[in-house]
Amino acid sequence: MKLTLSVIKADIGGYVGHSDTHPEVVQTVKDVVGSEVEKGNLIDCGILTCGDDIAIVMTHTHGVDSELVHGIAWRAFEKGTEVAKKLKLYGAGQDLLTDAFSGNIKGLGPGVAEMEFEERPSEPVIVFFADKTSPSAWNLPLYEMFADPMNTAGLVIDPKMHDGYTFEVLDVYTGKAVKLNTPAELYDLLALIGSVGKYVVKNVYRNYDGEIAATASTQRLSLMAGQYVGKDDPVMIVRAQSGFPAVGEILEPFARPWIVEGWMRGSHNGPLMPVSFEDARPSRFDGPPRVIAAGYQLSEGKLIGPTDLFRDPAFDKARMAAQDMADILRRQGIFEPHRLPAEEMEYTTLPKILKKLEGRFYDIEEQRLEKDQVMEKEDMD
Ligand code: F6R
Ligand code: MG
Ligand code: MG
Repeated sequence: MKLTLSVIKADIGGYVGHSDTHPEVVQTVKDVVGSEVEKGNLIDCGILTCGDDIAIVMTHTHGVDSELVHGIAWRAFEKGTEVAKKLKLYGAGQDLLTDAFSGNIKGLGPGVAEMEFEERPSEPVIVFFADKTSPSAWNLPLYEMFADPMNTAGLVIDPKMHDGYTFEVLDVYTGKAVKLNTPAELYDLLALIGSVGKYVVKNVYRNYDGEIAATASTQRLSLMAGQYVGKDDPVMIVRAQSGFPAVGEILEPFARPWIVEGWMRGSHNGPLMPVSFEDARPSRFDGPPRVIAAGYQLSEGKLIGPTDLFRDPAFDKARMAAQDMADILRRQGIFEPHRLPAEEMEYTTLPKILKKLEGRFYDIEEQRLEKDQVMEKEDMD
């Protein structure tokens, strides 16, 4: 039986501001999706939250891009939005960019990560969910999990992993994708995905047999909506063990925090802090960006879990390091490189401010010449 694991997420209202979700909204979303399990449309479902975002985790047999499954998520978010509006939560319904669902939720606001596979005798998967950052936050850890033997010992040791993995990389501006085979094309991969504003990893496949290993949401809301609507707070699914990286190899990149774009007003670089479900409530300067890791075992499509994988003191040092990095960056205030470079700021509200000043710029050299001419004329007179 081919099983599909779909994770669809949206910010439909923040409590308070952009820091957290409200339990009533979460419960409403859960009830709508739960009723579809009862009707037999889904095998199982679960809800995760990270910051002001809600992710619906669903298992079913309808394949990826299913109108039925996307429709369920859409209706759940619509119902949740009604509650968020009633409570006057902040930005209620902000990620639902249209009033009408048109068959596929992609392009309508919510983020989607889905994969279809034959469930193995034991199928451990991890759903990562981040707030106050963008899909390119996964570029670095995906490279380490699937292409860096210094991180993933299995690439050297496990015969099913030794042939490496193929990365499907998307150019978010053109919508074009390219597949790069590692380790042979590792440097080409890094040449692209080091540009986090332009390239994001969409899927990773195992070279040994072409099996899907990981998939990420790649939606960029600002490009869809044509204006700033918050960062895209991505989700990602990674399969673990028996020919895929071990759970510990998948989590290891997060033990050394790195800097991602997002944080306050989606306009700042900041460390991605791995946290427990409980601590996924970014408040300091609307951040720093957070990531949770929800581990599930699948059993005939049933979601056994989640277990809270970052609720481990072994990640305390990473959390402390992230705090130190946050302090260093905050010292820069509104100055780059804490604030994002000008190209990225085009998708924020800053251009509105800059537009006001446009007419006031003058050519400083021309002005000097004019002054000289006036003075020369005065001298002649
Ligand atoms: C970041 C984010 C917040 C808001 C900030 C200002 O993704 O959502 O940092 O950008 O709180 O929000 P507004 O402009 O709605 O007051
Ligand atoms: Mg928000
Ligand atoms: Mg968010």
